[in-house]
Amino acid sequence: MQVHTLYSFIALFSTQHKHMASSLFFFLMLLLPAVISAVNPCPPSERAALLAFKAALTEPYLGIFNSWSGTNCCGGWYGVACHPTTGHVTDVNLRGESQDPVFQKFGRSGYMTGKIWPEICSLSNLTTLIIADWKAISGEIPACVASLYSLQILDLAGNRIVGEIPTNIGNLISLSVLSLADNQISGKIPISIVNLLRLMHLDLSNNRLTGELPYDFGKLAMLNRALLGGNQLTGSISKSVSGMNRLADLDLSSNRLTGSIPVELGKMKVLSTLKLDGNSLTGPVPSTLLSNTGMGILNLSRNGFSGTIPDVFCKNSYFMVLDLSYNNLSGHIPGSLCASKFMGQLDLSYNHLCGTIPIGSLFDHLDPASFSNNDCLCGNPLKAC
Ligand SMILES: *[C@@H]1O[C@H](CO)[C@@H](O)[C@H](O)[C@H]1NC(C)=O
Ligand SMILES: *[C@@H]1O[C@H](CO)[C@@H](O)[C@H](O)[C@H]1NC(C)=O
Ligand SMILES: *[C@@H]1O[C@H](CO)[C@@H](O)[C@H](O)[C@H]1NC(C)=O
Repeated sequence: MQVHTLYSFIALFSTQHKHMASSLFFFLMLLLPAVISAVNPCPPSERAALLAFKAALTEPYLGIFNSWSGTNCCGGWYGVACHPTTGHVTDVNLRGESQDPVFQKFGRSGYMTGKIWPEICSLSNLTTLIIADWKAISGEIPACVASLYSLQILDLAGNRIVGEIPTNIGNLISLSVLSLADNQISGKIPISIVNLLRLMHLDLSNNRLTGELPYDFGKLAMLNRALLGGNQLTGSISKSVSGMNRLADLDLSSNRLTGSIPVELGKMKVLSTLKLDGNSLTGPVPSTLLSNTGMGILNLSRNGFSGTIPDVFCKNSYFMVLDLSYNNLSGHIPGSLCASKFMGQLDLSYNHLCGTIPIGSLFDHLDPASFSNNDCLCGNPLKAC
């Protein structure tokens, strides 16, 4: 119902039923704000932008765009949400893998081809842009995305997107989630990314990114998860990373990083998952990493770490994963390792370790593979010394 129609209805009603009119009028006035918000349609320019965006995509199996018709894009278009009073489009949320009934009905996950058309950038009040897990959306990220200043969530993961991350992505100062994982994005991580001071979740895993981490990456003080594994990043791990007081999860695995691990990394307060496996890192394993009782998953496998395993474990050490395999570690297995509270998966294989494997109930569940292919280890679960 249009608002002016409602007013005429009230006016007509008032003239014919004067005795009831005032109380009814009062009641309707209370109702009016709700009615206005329900009928406020999206601006025609935003509807046109959504239709142009849709036209560049093909979704052959689920019909998720079937609801994208009629004049009001705020009225039940799948994945579209609007501001309740202004009618501006605030959310475009299209996930190809979700619990939504449409996926259950067809018993399959999403698949979409086509490109993300720059028209999406005329939705200037967009706070959420999620076009994820459609497997086959290709083309580049429109550079104009960096002008969607209200964006808080940008998630284009799980497609086949190529090209580079827009240089001025750092303009999106409200961004708290940036996920471009599992695409074919190349080029460097834009330096401007360090301006995303509200960023909490960064996932650029499994792309083709090259170059180094921005020098002052540590400026991202709100960052909780930084997932950058499975790229072709070079250079060393900047000491500035250790200044990220909220960083709990750092994954730089399967890149081409060189140099040694900054000792400061082991002193980070909330860091509990550190994956540096599959790089060309060298130097010692910092003792701070192993003595940090908050560390739960540490994978340093497949690098060139050398020296001994520091004897710094303690009764509060609690490792779900401690993988030091495929390095150049020598010396004994430290006795303190057995004093740890918990050791889920331990892998020390393919090093140059020697001597007796420490005895302790903690090691009872481990099989020989955890210790295999060293120079001269012996004792349970390997053969007796
Ligand atoms: C919506 O976008 C317009 C045009 O860019 C802008 O002037 C306005 O401040 C925005 N409103 C909000 C709530 O962000
Ligand atoms: C550690 O990383 C290596 C190499 O990327 C991987 O093969 C291994 O499964 C990881 N270890 C654990 C325990 O997850
Ligand atoms: C392996 O470690 C030994 C002893 O620490 C060192 O002499 C050697 O250069 C290292 N090898 C490689 C390939 O790093």
